[in-house]
Amino acid sequence: MNTPLKAAVLISGTGSNLQALIDAIGSGRLHAEIVHVISNVADAPGLKRAEGAGIPTTVLEHERFTDRSEFDRALALLVGAENPDLILLAGFMRIIGSPVLDAFPGKIINLHPALLPLYRGMDTYRRAIEAGDSQHGASIHFVTADLDGGPVISQVVIPILGEDDPNSLAARLSPMEHRLVVATVEFFAAHKVESRDEAVYVDGEKLERPMLLRANALVYA
Ligand code: GRF
Repeated sequence: MNTPLKAAVLISGTGSNLQALIDAIGSGRLHAEIVHVISNVADAPGLKRAEGAGIPTTVLEHERFTDRSEFDRALALLVGAENPDLILLAGFMRIIGSPVLDAFPGKIINLHPALLPLYRGMDTYRRAIEAGDSQHGASIHFVTADLDGGPVISQVVIPILGEDDPNSLAARLSPMEHRLVVATVEFFAAHKVESRDEAVYVDGEKLERPMLLRANALVYA
């Protein structure tokens, strides 16, 4: 078997997606190692999850930096220290700039709770409900300088129910996000995915649309 994928995970909060990865690695489903968890929030609960799993953690509080690029340069150094193959932003509530993007081309992916290109930015659940959409979901995309605008790798879709409010929709989406994260990182661990010419390639073929999560696996529909 090839060497495990080395992943760094960046968080700001709960870290339930981080936990899903920890569990998938622990059960042998995912051939990966989380080499570093970095949070920009000192009391992010996800840090405890990482410590519980014996993963090195670092807190890098953005308030301590005088400007954005100084924070980005420090973040790039930290992330690079463990030489990760993949950097996953999982609830990392901070825009990252060129010092980080340029240091890890094609290696940074983000989980976003919307069916991109719909609803970039915040408050996606409320916006989808208010628009009268029949479905919502989550996307994983390569991170570029265009906020939530990089090429989309994979998505999971769920229905919006008549009685949904933003909280109930988020609660139903969350476990599906966990599956999406694990299934997508599996593709990276198997060296199936790459970013090239602002597009996603899977097994050397350009994706014309994102892969979709069906059950626990990604399919090209
Ligand atoms: C997820 O809903 C993700 O889509 C969004 O932030 C949330 C992170 O949740 N970007 P957690 O910290 O992994 O529990």
